[in-house]
Amino acid sequence: MCGIVGCVLNKKAAPTIIDSIKKLEYRGYDSIGIATVTDTINLKKGSGKINEVDSEINLKDIDGNIGIAHVRWATHGNPTKENAHPHCDCKNNISVVHNGIIENYKELRQELIKEGHIFKSDTDTEVIPHLIEKYMMEGQDFLTSVQTTIKRLVGSYALAIISKDNPHEIIGVRNESPLIVGVGENGNYLASDVPAILNETNKVIYLEDKEIIILKQDNVQIMDFDLNPIKKEITTITWNSEMAEKGGFEHFMLKEIYEEPQVIKDTLSESKKIQEIVQKFKKFNRICFVACGTSYHASLIGEYLIESQIGIPTEVILASEFEYFNKTLDDHTLVIFITQSGETADTIKALKVAKEKSETLAIVNVVGSSITREADHVIYTRAGPEISVAATKTYLSQLICIYLLVAHMGENQELLHKLDEISDLSEELLTHEEQIKEIAKKYKFAKDFFYIGRGFNYPTALEGALKLKEITYIHGEGYPAGELKHGPLALIDDNIPVVGILPPGPSYNKTYNNLQEIRARGADIIILGASNDTQIDDVEDKILFNPIIDEIIAPLLYIIDLQLLSYYISIEKNIDPDKPKNLAKSVTVE
Ligand code: M6R
Repeated sequence: MCGIVGCVLNKKAAPTIIDSIKKLEYRGYDSIGIATVTDTINLKKGSGKINEVDSEINLKDIDGNIGIAHVRWATHGNPTKENAHPHCDCKNNISVVHNGIIENYKELRQELIKEGHIFKSDTDTEVIPHLIEKYMMEGQDFLTSVQTTIKRLVGSYALAIISKDNPHEIIGVRNESPLIVGVGENGNYLASDVPAILNETNKVIYLEDKEIIILKQDNVQIMDFDLNPIKKEITTITWNSEMAEKGGFEHFMLKEIYEEPQVIKDTLSESKKIQEIVQKFKKFNRICFVACGTSYHASLIGEYLIESQIGIPTEVILASEFEYFNKTLDDHTLVIFITQSGETADTIKALKVAKEKSETLAIVNVVGSSITREADHVIYTRAGPEISVAATKTYLSQLICIYLLVAHMGENQELLHKLDEISDLSEELLTHEEQIKEIAKKYKFAKDFFYIGRGFNYPTALEGALKLKEITYIHGEGYPAGELKHGPLALIDDNIPVVGILPPGPSYNKTYNNLQEIRARGADIIILGASNDTQIDDVEDKILFNPIIDEIIAPLLYIIDLQLLSYYISIEKNIDPDKPKNLAKSVTVE
């Protein structure tokens, strides 16, 4: 949800700023803008993706050693050039980039308009430079004006602010939206996320909420909202910027799918740490998962596993709905938060509420993200940077953590042994690419898809359908196989392909029969089944043969077929799967 960058360098800043903000394009691509300071504020912006705007107005061609930039995921105001950040005050002396939402912007805007301020955009952000201008005109210095301004803001904000009259510094502010500092040899940096600065430095300071930063070329000062100095640790990041590049693949999404066998191995290596953590979980008699989107689907598999393998009552709550379900939490409930980014606003809000009554565990991919600093216990998923908006390898890494958690909680050696084979077996799924390309060609014009599965494999159906919607813009619906006959069967006809998830195991026969019922209504069926299944020859239109594993383990493999299917349908439809319309990787607004 919007990405911001700022840097104060010993050289022209714009080339570095634009290279850095490109690394944050996964956070929003409705518009791009940059501002630098010389003896004036220099500003360039436009609507569209960075490369499109750059080819029109050459964003790097702007002088100044200090600058800020922004990629936008529109919340208030259409994705137009006028609404693109940075936003300025009346005289273009102050320029601001913002990630978050100012909830009380309407009142502030009315007040400022009455006082004679002229607004040029429809955004909530624009009140910020006008407020700073107002307080500077009243005689406050730059820092105090920013401090007075943020006292008036209600909402979430990560800000980077430059001023014509203070041409050697950027002021940054963090409150409920992510912001980190990079400490480098050529200068210092502010950014929404670590990949933005990895080409310049691997030394990072993670900021907390309600912190203000003065960023100069040779020094960084961090203070609280009362301007008391705060001492912070510098963390050295161990992954490099290459790990966040495409590495010869056409899209990040495909590269990230291909990384899955390695990610499974890396995440399995967390087994010992997870075993240690679960020793502290003996007192819990109830488990509650909280998450959004793909992470929610991983949580659902957690629910099936814990209920069936350990017998602890478990429920899964969407983070955005959590406020309606938190009344019964107590100190015997463990609340598990699953999130790739660790920055999802709904999940952060739920965590803050849950902490008041229960112990919390976060399963997170991004090291040092907000949620890792709030939760009582943290497990890292070891998937490395995921750039494509569609979650793929991080979903698998979340599942591996959940399976390890369940195996250790239940002291289930058999499950642990089964997990050891998964990385090698997952390689086999990647050989389905050619077959999946054919299926994608055949069904690219479909308007609707159904995905059905039972038990452990029902969440896989939901996740397959989410991937389809998200990157192909085709309507996909995941359903429990047995539930179709209670309504949705009325929709089935020969225009709707149905994907059946049919691994061997106790659910096999029932799901097989449900597929027969669907076939009898004329639908084309795509089956994901085991390579030794001879029965499906009679039913299928297309079969993807997978390794012979039981239904309890199948979620760790079968999803790869569905990720590839959505990827290749999006390619057939000429859609960029890494940047689906209207979406952003990190959803930092509620
Ligand atoms: O970073 P999080 O895991 O908290 O994000 C939650 C969802 O926004 C995310 O999983 C989203 O559904 C995926 N991008 C879908 O592929």
